[in-house]
Amino acid sequence: MAKDLNNYLAFLEKNYPEQVYHVTREVNPEFEATAIIAKLEKENRFPVVIFDNVKGSKIPVIINMHANFQRLAMAIGLPANAGIQDFIAEYGKRETSPIDPVVVSSKEAPVQEVVWSGDEVDLYKLPLLKYHGRDAGHYITLGYEIMQYPESGNYNAGIYRLMRQTKNEMGIQISETAHGHYILKQYRRDKKVLPFAVTIGHHPAINLGFLSWAPGQVDDFKIAGGILGEPLRLVKCKTVPVLVPADAQIVLECEIRPDEFREEAPFGEYPGTYGPQRINPVVHVKAITMRKNPIYQSCFVGHPDNLLLSGLTRCTQILRAARMASPTVTAVNMPLSGRCRFTCYVAMDKLIEGDPKNVAMAVFAADPFLKYVYVVDKDVDVLSDYQVMHAVATRVRADYDTFMVTHARGSPLDPSSYAPEKGYHLVTKMGIDATRKANYPEEIAVPGTDDIKLEDYLGKSKS
Ligand SMILES: Cc1cc2nc3c(=O)[nH]c(=O)nc-3n(C[C@H](O)[C@H](O)[C@H](O)COP(=O)(O)O)c2cc1C
Repeated sequence: MAKDLNNYLAFLEKNYPEQVYHVTREVNPEFEATAIIAKLEKENRFPVVIFDNVKGSKIPVIINMHANFQRLAMAIGLPANAGIQDFIAEYGKRETSPIDPVVVSSKEAPVQEVVWSGDEVDLYKLPLLKYHGRDAGHYITLGYEIMQYPESGNYNAGIYRLMRQTKNEMGIQISETAHGHYILKQYRRDKKVLPFAVTIGHHPAINLGFLSWAPGQVDDFKIAGGILGEPLRLVKCKTVPVLVPADAQIVLECEIRPDEFREEAPFGEYPGTYGPQRINPVVHVKAITMRKNPIYQSCFVGHPDNLLLSGLTRCTQILRAARMASPTVTAVNMPLSGRCRFTCYVAMDKLIEGDPKNVAMAVFAADPFLKYVYVVDKDVDVLSDYQVMHAVATRVRADYDTFMVTHARGSPLDPSSYAPEKGYHLVTKMGIDATRKANYPEEIAVPGTDDIKLEDYLGKSKS
């Protein structure tokens, strides 16, 4: 049986039941569902939550699948106690071992068990959520837009949020830097209608695979197959010439016409601030296909469910770039405290003075959204903000050990960019060498600590 959202959920329910909550009472799709997740987050709890009964829809909602690192590690075949460096190594290995997809018939495709086309298309029957107080409407936040590069015919997958506008129209926000933006621009330049599909609800390995930071023109179906460890099963859409994952939960078959735009947003974005209203393309939904009993998968943008998914999938490229600057780089991490986007921690076995700054420059070149790169010695745990900040506090002389680049390109959503209202996404970037320097004094240590067996002193119950 193909790996899908249902069997991953069944795996969690069997082996990690404490990680899956069902909410059976009716919840309002406007703020109530997300308020529950936000409240759990305040208590430092990150379970998968399934809302069985969302007002106005017969379809349940699953959210927060990606808010916990362990679940993502297990999705790519790692043990539950794997660390982030294990994840980066395994994801990198799978990313560079693509697997060709296979095409199956409509009869073999669960996602085409039910087909709504023409007048039957009704986005109000789907349990789209409203997430944050000032969001302009109800959004799809974990729909992967599947588009073909016109030159190569290869498939690109990317998440571009969709705001419901009518029963069969939505607004779409595709960032300028996304490959999908280049594809849409080509169609618009040639005054052609862009046919594409939005696929919702997958095994988390597919969600991670679609976000691989692969170069343009690379076929994302092959990469996602590599990350999943088996070929993706694809099926032809009913109304557009596009292939989609046959084992998804729901697919929207869509088109964008070249000269049609409408207001979209504000929307609560990943930095934790609202993105402004924009004039964005209009998406027409021609058909909706789904399983007989689908689950609608959502992602909580601006929260760990979104941040981890985005940050982890960038780490393999960042590690490769850092190792171009120095082969002794041992670890990288995009910490949640930096929204998994703005800050990168790099650990290295420094053999040559100056290397940490070169490493920081390479990391900046690898990811234009980064604003702070901290380079630490290899014994500092890059998963620990506490340990990295300790290194900064005790090993950095700001005038010697940092460098700044002003007016460099950053994230289009960086709230600290210069004049964002004019469309300038320029930021100041800072590299910080927080490694020990040659004159660093001896550090305190208690002899024998590693040999102590605590149970010998405190008893078993307190060990
Ligand atoms: C939950 C989530 C929501 C996202 N929303 C958007 C979005 O609305 N617009 C966008 O351009 N990118 C968004 N992204 C980031 C892109 O999906 C991501 O950069 C992707 O790699 C782009 O693919 P592409 O460059 O192949 O087109 C989102 C990512 C996640 C994880």
